[in-house]
Amino acid sequence: MKTYRIAVIPGDGIGPEVIAEGVKVLNRAAELDASFRFDFVTFPWGCEYYAKHGKMMDDDGMEKLRSFDAIYLGAVGYPGVPDHISLWGLLLRIRKEFDQYVNIRPIQLLDGAPCPLKDASKADIDMLVIRENSEGEYAGAGDWLFKGKPEEVVLQTGVFSRKGTERIIRYAYETARRLNKSLTSVSKGNALNYSMVFWDQVFEEIGREYPDVKTYSYLVDAAAMFMIKQPQRFEVVVTSNLFGDILTDLGAAIAGGLGLAAGANVNPERTHPSMFEPIHGSAPDIAGRGIANPLAAVWSASQLLDFLGQERWGKAVLQAVEQVMVERAALTPDMGGTASTSEVGDRVVSALAASSIAAK
Ligand code: NAD
Ligand code: IPM
Ligand code: MN
Repeated sequence: MKTYRIAVIPGDGIGPEVIAEGVKVLNRAAELDASFRFDFVTFPWGCEYYAKHGKMMDDDGMEKLRSFDAIYLGAVGYPGVPDHISLWGLLLRIRKEFDQYVNIRPIQLLDGAPCPLKDASKADIDMLVIRENSEGEYAGAGDWLFKGKPEEVVLQTGVFSRKGTERIIRYAYETARRLNKSLTSVSKGNALNYSMVFWDQVFEEIGREYPDVKTYSYLVDAAAMFMIKQPQRFEVVVTSNLFGDILTDLGAAIAGGLGLAAGANVNPERTHPSMFEPIHGSAPDIAGRGIANPLAAVWSASQLLDFLGQERWGKAVLQAVEQVMVERAALTPDMGGTASTSEVGDRVVSALAASSIAAK
């Protein structure tokens, strides 16, 4: 029997609450299939760990993670530890050091998902956002000069290397070609007169190798507007690290909310483990009450199954999520229900067990 070794980092706030449900679903898929199993190893890293040890993970934490088939993460960051310390000490560190340069975030309106847009249908909101995940505005480069003095100046440098820009844009073209969809680049060359002019140039250059892929290019401000007014314009979308961060929270809002939005941090070459996590954060405002929506974490688990080559189960899990929302039998308060986090997880598990895929 095939065993997948998965490192689990539940993290902070609602992270552990939603990840428990994702693990439940993954274990059930494995049981139903019977040809593979999961070996989960949990790492207690995060802000509580920081409070005790003065660091976000073990000193050899990255080494510990390296041998796993994938990482499944909840959320990082909690009041009490400055966000830039907690995030750079764990989440952003893993993305960067494991060269997870592709962040794949589906913005797709599933049946039964609440949508705030009047008249938007399932076909209108069906995009795949490919966010650059290793450099750009998140390069971590900058300087803080004359701190506290009247002449104080703070610099935050965006880094767009040729290698980093080409590889994400090429990945997006390949994805659009494979899916037979258009590709939209979102940038800001009018104001960011170095980085985004370069980005646009690379988008055009690489595009010459993909004459079969229809392309569009939007400025990010207009893209934000069109995502609300005419989301059907977007199919595969490629954008920089920060723009992708913002646009995918916006995307989450039109496709069912943050409680349903999933993401995969992928190292396509598979020289390092990839990491699967919901888009949302630790939600301190609802943490500890058992009411967090686990569906984003479950959708990330579906992406994890796809990544492991268990696409049949990835699809089954997503269908189970959809079924739970259509039936409205167990939904958390953010979706207008009264169910608890674990009741929703249980419901997904029973929908999965009853699915036609499970029967095969
Ligand atoms: P957040 O995503 O945690 O919460 C924003 C809002 O969405 C809150 O009202 C929250 O209750 C709601 N929400 C989020 N997930 C939900 C879920 N599963 N079910 C129901 N409601 C949900 O963003 P924030 O409040 O800006 O950030 C809180 C902390 O999380 C900060 O420390 C931030 O840096 C961190 N953060 C971490 C990640 C990550 O680990 N990937 C992502 C975003 C934010
Ligand atoms: C996300 C989060 C992170 C990001 C934060 C917590 C650093 O917002 O995964 O979307 O900006 O990438
Ligand atoms: Mn974000």
